[in-house]
Amino acid sequence: MLVELIHQQHQELQELFARHQEYLLQSKFDEAKQWLEHFKACQKAHMQIEERYLFPEFAKIERKSKWDVSLYEKEHTKINQLCENITEDLNWLSEQEFDESQLHRNIIALIDKEKTLKGLNEHHEDREEDAMLKELDEQLEERELKELKLDIKLTWTEVMGSVKEAMKN
Ligand SMILES: [Fe+2]
Ligand SMILES: [Fe+2]
Repeated sequence: MLVELIHQQHQELQELFARHQEYLLQSKFDEAKQWLEHFKACQKAHMQIEERYLFPEFAKIERKSKWDVSLYEKEHTKINQLCENITEDLNWLSEQEFDESQLHRNIIALIDKEKTLKGLNEHHEDREEDAMLKELDEQLEERELKELKLDIKLTWTEVMGSVKEAMKN
């Protein structure tokens, strides 16, 4: 089912972000930046998969839920903007010469902002899984689903290849 395939990608993305946060919490900025970049690259690829393979199909079927493709697209834009904002904050933070207290307070402020991103993402992913993907799984033909799943799997395996290497270290 599409919903299982995409759910797995959502979980892999959450794992990448968790790694970033582990390093951020320890003030290890180089590693925190590196894992944020991995997360962003994979999230971008994930969104492209959805926009290229799933949104066009979802636009064609008889929708039962109230949210159309444009809402999912808007959420992608919003998530990307917040990601960029977080990247800027992290870059700024890594260049400051703070004392320990200031450093910790600024890290807490960034983690608060990241909580907002996690909330947005969670909300968006739940909507995809509970509405769009569920409806696609119900309405598309077996053959169409099979083709989509194959394309999505191939694209994702390629994207995750380099990141999976990094995860071993
Ligand atoms: Fe999405
Ligand atoms: Fe998604």
